Amino acid sequence: MNDDDERLQKVLARLGFGSRRLCEELIADERVNVNGDTAVLGRRVDVDNDEVAVDGAIVGIRPDLVYYLLNKPTGVITTADDPQGRPTVVQIVPDEPRVFPVGRLDADTEGLLLLTNDGTLTHRLTHPSFGVEKEYLTQVDGVPSRAALRELREGVELEDGKTSKARVTAVEDSLLRITIHEGKNRQVRRMCEAVGHPVERLVRTRIGPMVDRRLKPGDWRTLTREEVRSLEIAVGGDSVER
Ligand code: URA
Repeated sequence: MNDDDERLQKVLARLGFGSRRLCEELIADERVNVNGDTAVLGRRVDVDNDEVAVDGAIVGIRPDLVYYLLNKPTGVITTADDPQGRPTVVQIVPDEPRVFPVGRLDADTEGLLLLTNDGTLTHRLTHPSFGVEKEYLTQVDGVPSRAALRELREGVELEDGKTSKARVTAVEDSLLRITIHEGKNRQVRRMCEAVGHPVERLVRTRIGPMVDRRLKPGDWRTLTREEVRSLEIAVGGDSVER
């Protein structure tokens, strides 16, 4: 035990398990383990070394991990560095600790983008096997017919393979809400182009459980603990081992 140890109920509250009082109840009800042993109230933990589990599920307790949600404006590119010197998403958020974008949005795509230094979560959110949904508001050229909408839903033949089933609803004649769970390069643009309706404007409005209608283009904020937990749940479980 050292001076940096934190009380378990404080750590659990920080992670989004509820108020300090509720977390004390979790411990009193013997639902919390530290390094395999049932924890007692007042137990202190070392966030770098101890393994904490709630109801048998290990929870990540590293305070050095940061999570940002950015509303990416057009013209900003989703890489850490750009040889051509264009503005990048990482320049919008704090420099330290260094974070990376979770997946990519095209330069001309707007909307929600996560940035984090949590490699495990990044992998799970971007790998198609975890199937996290991404929703886009898509302004297209022309008015897609019912057949075109059906084709978008059923899967479109692209040069790198057929797209999986997608949810597609017409919000207005030329405005579609498209939900996909893959991440092929420029997927939505290529799908729409393939059915004869090139994209005129593309805005990502949801990543798994993450939505934010109030965040303005160019603005960012830190995710709450509850939001991080909801992302962890979306990628298959209520814990991520790190
Ligand atoms: N699909 C696209 O075509 N572009 C994006 O930026 C994201 C999804």
